[in-house]
Amino acid sequence: MAHKQFVIEGLGLCKSYGGKEVLRAENVAVSNGRITGIMGPSGAGKSTLLRIMSLLEAPSGGELSLFGSLVPVNKAEKQALLRRMTIVFQKPVLFDTTVFDNIAFGLRARRLPAGEIRTRVTASLKKIGLSGQGNQKARTLSGGEAQRVALARALVIEPEILFLDEPTSNLDPANVELLEGLLHDLNRERGTTIVMVTHNLFQARRLADDLLFLCQGELVEAGPAERVFQEPADMRTKAFVEGRMIY
Ligand SMILES: Nc1ncnc2c1ncn2[C@@H]1O[C@H](COP(=O)(O)OP(=O)(O)O)[C@@H](O)[C@H]1O
Ligand SMILES: [Mg+2]
Repeated sequence: MAHKQFVIEGLGLCKSYGGKEVLRAENVAVSNGRITGIMGPSGAGKSTLLRIMSLLEAPSGGELSLFGSLVPVNKAEKQALLRRMTIVFQKPVLFDTTVFDNIAFGLRARRLPAGEIRTRVTASLKKIGLSGQGNQKARTLSGGEAQRVALARALVIEPEILFLDEPTSNLDPANVELLEGLLHDLNRERGTTIVMVTHNLFQARRLADDLLFLCQGELVEAGPAERVFQEPADMRTKAFVEGRMIY
């Protein structure tokens, strides 16, 4: 079922909690090297779909393929898949240590030489505008700075797929712009596949190449962002992109 251009493919994916179905997606495909936005009102199942695609949670039914491998795979294969991707959440989850150590975490886990780690972390601090703040305690950072560190920690391991769940919803406009710029560059310069949940239409317009639109647990529309915005096929998508649906 795998096609080279799709790094993620889902067929008939569904998820239930305590007998209540919260997600049903007949056909999901994420293209290699593109930015896919997952959009929809609150409670639509966006985070659930993201957790399934990033292997944080198993679907209740359906088939999921990552990089052409059908999941579930054995433990070693799952570990290998997990090493090729990473996730950033709405609230930055940082360790109570320095900014440097937070960013270096994944590199140390991969046993890279100390010199290489220093080079990569220093470059990454510069990229997120925190040069010279490597020794600062992470818990003393502002919200925007903390999210930039969370992103840097994800990027420094050079994932093939970066998942993000509403990464900018708690940030001020300047930090939103900075983060969006980092994501855009990452995608265009490194070709990293990005899958980002957002309920922000404007953000989706600015960043997404492709869109998945969820409504009440159902995947109701998928396609190139431009087409979805200009000619939504589903009435619910149309209501959402025209701002007539409350979210
Ligand atoms: N662990 C869980 N247990 C029970 N219900 C859950 C759980 N996670 C999510 N849900 C429910 O699934 C639905 C979709 O949630 P979610 O994927 O978080 O939506 P979104 O991210 O689009 O706001 C919601 O009704 C939510 O209450
Ligand atoms: Mg969510």
